[in-house]
Amino acid sequence: MNDPLLQIRDLSVHFRTGNGTAEVLRHVSLDLARGRLVGVVGESGSGKSTLAATLLRLLPPNLARLDGAITFEGRNLLTLPPAETEALRGTRFAMIFQDPMTALNPVFTIGNQLVEFQRAKQPSASRADLRARAVRMLARVGIADPARRLDDYPHEFSGGMRQRVMIAAALLTEADLLIADEPTTALDPTIEAQIVALMRELHAEIGSTMMLISHSLGLVSQLCDDVVVLYAGTVVETGPMAEIFRNPLHPYTRALIACEIGHDVARGDRLASIPGEVPDVTRVPPGCIFAGRCPDVVPACREAVPELRAFGPDRRAACSRL
Ligand SMILES: Nc1ncnc2c1ncn2[C@@H]1O[C@H](COP(=O)(O)OP(=O)(O)OP(=O)(O)O)[C@@H](O)[C@H]1O
Ligand SMILES: [Mg+2]
Repeated sequence: MNDPLLQIRDLSVHFRTGNGTAEVLRHVSLDLARGRLVGVVGESGSGKSTLAATLLRLLPPNLARLDGAITFEGRNLLTLPPAETEALRGTRFAMIFQDPMTALNPVFTIGNQLVEFQRAKQPSASRADLRARAVRMLARVGIADPARRLDDYPHEFSGGMRQRVMIAAALLTEADLLIADEPTTALDPTIEAQIVALMRELHAEIGSTMMLISHSLGLVSQLCDDVVVLYAGTVVETGPMAEIFRNPLHPYTRALIACEIGHDVARGDRLASIPGEVPDVTRVPPGCIFAGRCPDVVPACREAVPELRAFGPDRRAACSRL
């Protein structure tokens, strides 16, 4: 993994809450390799969306602490002036949200918005050219009769179609990094499968770096080259998806995979769950963050935080018992 697009080093993000400081991300270090499709997986509350928000510098006002470095083209994104980080959003980094209505403005037509999404990078292009590109991209993501649909408003599209419009919008920015936060969670399984196939196809064609955030390891495994497993704000394992599926190292990754395999859609099961609960991040216990739920725990696990160590060239895991 030479020359990563982004290098995250020792990133910690803490928020002020009514219950004290929430340590939402703790000492996160990872590289996003160029052109790869990277999955970030973890249960609800593990800090996935906060990681995306930090990359885009869209952090809430109750931020208490922001430490570490995110290096992009030799510069630390965490210390750039706000105007520069704003300039990066929508040109170098683009985001696909779970609910496209958070990104699409209900009072403007899809056409107007798709033109505006392209403006930052193409300030002098004619409106007709940008509309023509938008029509081609809408066709590409599977919107029928795209030239006519350009004059429709977001609410005139179904949920699945709006998600396609959002993907088209993100692709039109030609960003170097596309972050998709739970892009299919609001969709039914058939539409989800179509969107996953579409994202895979577009990624193969466009070759930009993509970060797919999901609580579903199954979804991530269908789509991603690499995976980052987050647990309560800590990276517990990273590496190529296929290798991790074949040989998960961290007990949490093993538990996630076991849930995925035990999950039988035909029987109508929802996801089997891991016994115990995610720890309260306002009261982070000493030692390994997973110790409270780990089937392999020994007393030493509750003393020191295990380091994220290398196991082969591209694999790392944070468990002192490995
Ligand atoms: N602005 C905030 N202030 C205080 N706590 C927050 C804030 N935003 C997030 N958190 C807390 O940080 C933790 C991580 O939240 P985050 O939304 O990043 O998790 P997630 O992995 O994206 O979860 P989900 O799968 O539910 O989307 C949670 O415990 C959440 O309650
Ligand atoms: Mg989230």
